[in-house]
Amino acid sequence: MTTSYIPGFGNHVATEAVPGALPIGRNSPQRPAYGLYAEQLSGTAFTAPRHENRRSWLYRLRPTAEHPPYEPYAGAPRFAPGTSDSPLPPNRLRWDPAPMTPPGTDWIDGMTTMLANRDPADLEGVAVHVYTCNRSMERVFVDADGELVFLPQSGRLTILTELGRIGIAPGQIALVPRGVRFRVELPDGEATGYVAENHGSLFRLPDLGPIGANGLGNPRDFETPVAWFEDRDEPTQVVQKFLGSLWTMTLDHSPLDVVAWHGNLLPWRYDLSRFNTINTVSFDHPDPSIFTLLTSPSDVPGRANADLVLFPPRWMVAEDTFRPPWFHRNIMSEAMGLITGAYDAKAEGFRPGGLSLHNLMAGHGPDLASWQGASNADLRPHRIEGTMAFMVESCWPYRPTTHALSHAQLDYDAVWKDFPKARLPL
Ligand SMILES: [Fe+2]
Repeated sequence: MTTSYIPGFGNHVATEAVPGALPIGRNSPQRPAYGLYAEQLSGTAFTAPRHENRRSWLYRLRPTAEHPPYEPYAGAPRFAPGTSDSPLPPNRLRWDPAPMTPPGTDWIDGMTTMLANRDPADLEGVAVHVYTCNRSMERVFVDADGELVFLPQSGRLTILTELGRIGIAPGQIALVPRGVRFRVELPDGEATGYVAENHGSLFRLPDLGPIGANGLGNPRDFETPVAWFEDRDEPTQVVQKFLGSLWTMTLDHSPLDVVAWHGNLLPWRYDLSRFNTINTVSFDHPDPSIFTLLTSPSDVPGRANADLVLFPPRWMVAEDTFRPPWFHRNIMSEAMGLITGAYDAKAEGFRPGGLSLHNLMAGHGPDLASWQGASNADLRPHRIEGTMAFMVESCWPYRPTTHALSHAQLDYDAVWKDFPKARLPL
């Protein structure tokens, strides 16, 4: 699949797949060109401040409003089942990569919800899913509960959205806005990876403070696809996630029929290797907020509903410093995934495709082997190569799903066992 992209995060974009489809100088003319239907898709309240306001205008073959009633969707047994209501032990949890699903499983049925916090109806919180799939979707999916960030771990994805086509491979990520319908196709025949579902305020680039005008995720490296549509009058199943449940109905046409659009509510892709990693050149490991790619603020200044944080290849040069992440307990709750390689605070047991959870106030940090290695390391400049870990950090403690709780590693606590006691002078 080849497609064209428009660079820039949060731009106001205007794009048309058929010349003349986009109205000029107004959003809703009395008769749009070619008999297209004009539709506004809002990502924020109409009255959100201008710098927060995101919406796009879509010009399509048929209005979204034309659809039969939704019925409960009976598939995808591990997707959006709700989290466990049992009292949650304050234990650290870790999971091996999910096994490949049976042949013929598409992205919807291959989704497993692992962690979630808050009710989607609160318009706050975040969920972490993993997927394993081996069949391209023939139907479309739409999430009314939040925007979706795709983080492939193996296999490429082609995400055909109402607003254009996005191709990504492991090492790249993509975002589909809340309410935008899409189909996931698998150019390599199978795929595994993660999805972060943000129920809260829209992901944006973090303020940079004293870093200055450049650095971390640079706006021009986010790429939005140009308009694309399919004119297909065939029965098309639509599956929708709404208030934490899955629903379905069938249209007599493909809803990926937006011929032109303009606005600033955008799907995009981003190559993680473009992240401008910033770190110490003197001593101490900075707080991991230095690695933030995207942030979804909460109503409390500085306290994120969700941060997407990267741990990419980078030079380690700190002097007289324990270089991996230090031991810590946080008010924030941390879900971590590993796309490739190894994470520098965990020598083993955290495999690509795996997941870990360090919830509110859980003591964690380097495992024994990593602590021993880093405490005795020769502190020459050293480059961490061939790795990409990420964290979805949230101010709301995560609750695992029942499936996640019953599939966690049994011995995770053992990685912090047998640390030697400190020796005080006699
Ligand atoms: Fe942590």
